Amino acid sequence: MFGYAALALFGAAVAQAQTQATALDIAAVQAHFTQAQIAGQPTYMLPTFTPQGTLGLTFGSSSISIGQKVDQSNANSSPQIAVVPASNGSRINAQSIYTVAMVDADIVGTNAQTTPLTRHWLVNNVMLQGSGSYSINYTGSVGVTDYAGPGPAAGSGSHRYVVLLYAQSSSFRPPANLSTAGVGLATWNLQSYVDASGLGPLVAANYFQVENGQATVTVPVTSAVVTSTLSTVTSPTASSGSMSGSASGTGSASRSGSASGSSASAATSSRAAASETKSRSFGLGLIVGAVGVVGCLVGAGLGL
Ligand SMILES: *[C@@H]1O[C@H](CO)[C@@H](O)[C@H](O)[C@H]1NC(C)=O
Ligand SMILES: *[C@@H]1O[C@H](CO)[C@@H](O)[C@H](O)[C@H]1NC(C)=O
Ligand SMILES: *[C@@H]1O[C@H](CO)[C@@H](O)[C@H](O)[C@H]1NC(C)=O
Repeated sequence: MFGYAALALFGAAVAQAQTQATALDIAAVQAHFTQAQIAGQPTYMLPTFTPQGTLGLTFGSSSISIGQKVDQSNANSSPQIAVVPASNGSRINAQSIYTVAMVDADIVGTNAQTTPLTRHWLVNNVMLQGSGSYSINYTGSVGVTDYAGPGPAAGSGSHRYVVLLYAQSSSFRPPANLSTAGVGLATWNLQSYVDASGLGPLVAANYFQVENGQATVTVPVTSAVVTSTLSTVTSPTASSGSMSGSASGTGSASRSGSASGSSASAATSSRAAASETKSRSFGLGLIVGAVGVVGCLVGAGLGL
């Protein structure tokens, strides 16, 4: 059995070691976003998404896997972001300007083009600092909407919080009512904002899930991402580390202990009843699925 602390260490080791996102990393991001119904269809939040790299999220000291379920209380403060470009991710560099946003894409099945989605975070004029694995330099940025942690209504199902990094070209012109600091959390139409302001392209994204209590709504079940079957997999090197684990740990989002992600699928919306038998409660959802654990171990060069 792997220790909680050990997992956190793997995450840190991988984050430090990886300075270029592999084809498998990119394929994993795309697979997760497709399976979670966030990207790839006209009714999804992102009708198209071609990642130029990966976007890692760390809450406190805990880095999460794509789509991981996180305890609401552990997402109260903004996550640290680590951006790792793919070899052809030329729009990810230390010279450009970016916009960071977080949007609640609501539950699986939501028509994101007709449903107002909640803007939880919007920062214009950020830069990337470091090299290889970049962090965000907020100096001189415009925090239009300060980070507001998830607060899904009780019983409303597992919400998908999508963190987005857009390239912000010199032609970017934000709408007047979203151009200065201090605009509170509110619903908006992300696509309209992107179109009207000339933002883009979207270069990297990640998402996590937060659920409050047991779902009283029916959430369509999505299929799992199985990284070993992704078309770019040529050898089982699991070089993608923590980014590709088909993992969904469960935070202790539900005090009743019934809400959880499936250990087999980050994208699987958590029908609480269905996943009850897999439910475990750890302080922060740092349990990753078996594939993710193996990936981390091999990725960190530790072997199993
Ligand atoms: C990077 O290359 C891959 C493989 O050829 C391709 O699928 C992907 O669209 C490219 N990404 C960008 C941002 O050009
Ligand atoms: C962060 O951005 C500011 C303003 O552009 C710049 O002066 C500073 O050197 C940057 N910091 C790093 C570590 O790149
Ligand atoms: C900004 O103005 C647009 C119309 O120009 C409106 O649709 C939108 O709701 C406004 N947003 C905010 C945050 O007030």
